[in-house]
Amino acid sequence: MRKTEIIAVVNQKGGVGKSVTSVNLATSLARQGKKVLICDLDAQANSTMCMGFQNPDELPITIANIFTEYIEDKITLTKDQYLLHSEGCDIIPSSIELAGIEPSLVNALSRERILKSFLSDIQEDYQYIILDCGPSLGMLTLNALVAATSVLIPEQAHYLSAKGLEMLIGTIARIKKNINPTLEFMGILITMYNHRLNFSKAILESLENAYGNHIKIFNGKIPQSVKAVENTATGKSIFLYDPKCKVSLAYEAFTKEVLADESV
Ligand SMILES: Nc1ncnc2c1ncn2[C@@H]1O[C@H](COP(=O)(O)OP(=O)(O)OP(=O)(O)O)[C@@H](O)[C@H]1O
Ligand SMILES: [Mg+2]
Repeated sequence: MRKTEIIAVVNQKGGVGKSVTSVNLATSLARQGKKVLICDLDAQANSTMCMGFQNPDELPITIANIFTEYIEDKITLTKDQYLLHSEGCDIIPSSIELAGIEPSLVNALSRERILKSFLSDIQEDYQYIILDCGPSLGMLTLNALVAATSVLIPEQAHYLSAKGLEMLIGTIARIKKNINPTLEFMGILITMYNHRLNFSKAILESLENAYGNHIKIFNGKIPQSVKAVENTATGKSIFLYDPKCKVSLAYEAFTKEVLADESV
């Protein structure tokens, strides 16, 4: 295994389970004794809130301040100032302020490498860094894909989601070819799966036919369940909210698959 696995959780489609997956993977890895950092790269700050910081806009320092410092080339922030802690993980939170960063990134020097450069200063403290991306393929997601060692794609077994997947995989392949040659596809994780729906099964089958040969589709699908909605509202991981529910068990099984793959 590489020293630090930096996992970008990416899908330009909104609401497919990126934030829920980021939080539950991060906390599950921490429960397995791993040193984990979760970095919220979305101005909606959903993973910040899921990790228990329910008023992110009141936080004094967030990832937006870190980007600003790197853009202005004056690095003064210390870990004590920007790191939060919850459920055994370190967190770099986000807030709505991040929405203002994307335009200023466009003119910044080495604009797609800012996150990589920042993480390279702190990554040795962690075995896993999870990057929760927003629903776009803009400059912040590009920063995540340049910093990452692997990319995890949460995907709903819905027709319209599956359509966007082709474009996403093409974009990631281009980034791998041109900017980050060591980037790997970690795999596709099916979220909000309802095994009673025939079309969900049919879409899963077509995903397996289209991509199964070159991209892993994790065995452990995450079932659709109201528990996953409730846990996000309470600012806790699914493991604190209801450790025995089927979503907890599914995320636990998925984490074991991740750990098994990495030890190969
Ligand atoms: N397994 C699940 N079953 C039912 N609902 C779920 C499940 N996982 C996530 N959800 C709900 O679906 C919604 C979207 O999830 P989430 O915020 O993780 O998606 P996202 O891809 O991060 O969205 P965005 O693109 O806006 O960042 C949330 O309301 C969440 O509570
Ligand atoms: Mg999200």
